[in-house]
Amino acid sequence: MLRQDGKTKIMSYDKFIPYSLPLIEDEEIEEVIDTLRSGWITTGPKTREFEAEFAKYIGCKHAIAVNSCTAALHLALEAIGIKEGDEVITSPMTFAATAEVIRYFRAKPVFIDIDPVTMNIDAQEIERYLSTTNNRQSSLPKAIIPVHYTGYPCDMDSIRRLAEKYGLRVIEDAAHALPAYFNGRVIGSTGDITCFSFYATKNITTGEGGMVTTNNDEWAERMRIMSLHGISKDAWNRYSAEGSWYYEVIAPGYKYNLTDIAASLGVVQLKKADRLWQRRTEIAGIYNQAFRDIPELESPFNNFSNSIYRTDDFGPRTSDVGLQNSEPAPQLKGTKHSWHLYVIRLNLEGLSVSRNRFIEELKTMGIGTSVHFIPLHIHPYYRDLYDYKPGDFPVAYETYNRIISLPIYPKMTDGDVVRVVEAVLQVISRNRR
Ligand SMILES: Cc1ncc(COP(=O)(O)O)c(C=O)c1O
Repeated sequence: MLRQDGKTKIMSYDKFIPYSLPLIEDEEIEEVIDTLRSGWITTGPKTREFEAEFAKYIGCKHAIAVNSCTAALHLALEAIGIKEGDEVITSPMTFAATAEVIRYFRAKPVFIDIDPVTMNIDAQEIERYLSTTNNRQSSLPKAIIPVHYTGYPCDMDSIRRLAEKYGLRVIEDAAHALPAYFNGRVIGSTGDITCFSFYATKNITTGEGGMVTTNNDEWAERMRIMSLHGISKDAWNRYSAEGSWYYEVIAPGYKYNLTDIAASLGVVQLKKADRLWQRRTEIAGIYNQAFRDIPELESPFNNFSNSIYRTDDFGPRTSDVGLQNSEPAPQLKGTKHSWHLYVIRLNLEGLSVSRNRFIEELKTMGIGTSVHFIPLHIHPYYRDLYDYKPGDFPVAYETYNRIISLPIYPKMTDGDVVRVVEAVLQVISRNRR
């Protein structure tokens, strides 16, 4: 319900629309209850079912369930043999997890600036770094962790070409990218190793959880062993009738296994993944249309259609803004955006408010938002360790100062989506220069 706040003349609302909410329905609850009643609540048959279904959904040989994407990334780097002092290339525009796992090995995260259009790591800048490193004859980085930021895939053709040329492994951070395609290929089905997240805000959720996928038998076996104390064989099964009390520890592994309680959520959520994605795409479509001709902000659509990608790949445009005329968000040919995040970029020169103030005004109007991400190089740990200045990654820093993640999740009603649109447009019209 809308009401006028007498003092500030700012519209405020009874209902707060949070930045994110999971969609948990009766089926998930029943599946969890089933597991609780089964007597097997840690890693067991539900986790194995979730892994098998996930591998089928993605189209990969191995899927190993773990208790976070952070764990998945750590296991992946361990499997490919990252050692102290190695360099691993990644984007500064990501969550702490992507780089902290590199530091677990006392290896060095090498940040490469982002592409100003897609906000993903810039493949040309990677090449520039690799070619100059090569010229200096110093040791080459061992791996690249491209982050499919917001769920829009990185330029994997260029990244794989570079990885082959310079002998690097590619560990994809697909925390946002379920489901996503690049050039007709499902993210997670090709390449070296891919890591997914089922954190509470993600496209499918198990509360906390993750999955690591690969087609490589050796890495899969290593990651499975290391995910449960470095125990050689079927450690999870040792208390069952088929299991055995005997086990051997072959390495100091980790405690990264997913529980069957969490996997029960995953099994049901995975069945809905396409439906959940469809709704995200619809919401993105409404936002895209509503914000298309607003010069004070850039929506993902505006940016992609003006970029190197061809506009006609986006499908028809309509001039109407509104639910009746809404159409799914456009996709590039062969590319599927998971629409995990909907990030707008403010054109601050056209506004009399900062991004932070913009967020505050949206909050007053009952709209929760977030910022993805505070670039890693300006966080105290990385800033102090490597003596970074904000301008060392100018595109990431400039982008950070004007981004806002709007709510986008299947639980939003059409009315919620309209309210977000109206609030954004009102804040703009109040603060237009
Ligand atoms: C890009 C990115 N990578 C990795 C992670 C870590 O995921 P998890 O919380 O499942 O460990 C996140 C979490 O939000 C993320 O956004």
